[in-house]
Amino acid sequence: MDVNLSSITLRPFRLTDLDDFMVWASDDQVTHFMRWNTFSSREEALNYIRDVCIPHPWRRSICLDDRSIGFISVKPASGNDYCRAEVGYAIAFKYWGQGIATRALKMALSCVFKDMPYLVRLQALVDIDNKASERVLEKAGFLKEGVLRKYCLLKSGVKDLAIYSFLSTDSILD
Ligand SMILES: CC(C)(COP(=O)(O)OP(=O)(O)OC[C@H]1O[C@@H](n2cnc3c(N)ncnc32)[C@H](O)[C@@H]1OP(=O)(O)O)[C@@H](O)C(=O)NCCC(=O)NCCS
Repeated sequence: MDVNLSSITLRPFRLTDLDDFMVWASDDQVTHFMRWNTFSSREEALNYIRDVCIPHPWRRSICLDDRSIGFISVKPASGNDYCRAEVGYAIAFKYWGQGIATRALKMALSCVFKDMPYLVRLQALVDIDNKASERVLEKAGFLKEGVLRKYCLLKSGVKDLAIYSFLSTDSILD
């Protein structure tokens, strides 16, 4: 079933998202390239929504008909690094390849610099084997700055990560 991209919305998480959250957050295909582990218990997931997602400075549920099919987050750094924030996102497996992550990222770009006017730079660190995510960033207008070699431990080992940035003065691609 093709998704009408204009029906994609972003909104804060709610505790009532638990069932929909479990669909994608308990899927190893979705979490493979993520730094967090696959959720296996509803209790653990509920605690995570309550303690991490809801209080997060800018984490949105990517929704279709107001039901959560993924997330996108923009997490500002602290102290002297307050000018930048790190972007992360994921989409439920059954919706991959329909432009939803790109749409959600463009929607986020259109509001985060207003919501957090102190931000000048967004960045994303992507496993170099995660070609779909690199493509999402490129389609939204992020610039690839290089590769951080053997940068961090992901599920498949210590990985090289591509670093992408988008500045508040950059243009969102059509
Ligand atoms: C990465 C992810 C968010 C992409 O979501 P999506 O809604 O499928 O993304 P889009 O449809 O907007 O765009 C995907 C693009 O990647 C391309 N792509 C997919 N797999 C690819 C591959 N193996 N090699 C090259 N390009 C690929 C698609 O063709 C598409 O590009 P196109 O529009 O030019 O054809 C989704 O796969 C996901 O949730 N993955 C798990 C979590 C994750 O990796 N998050 C990012 C961590 S940095």
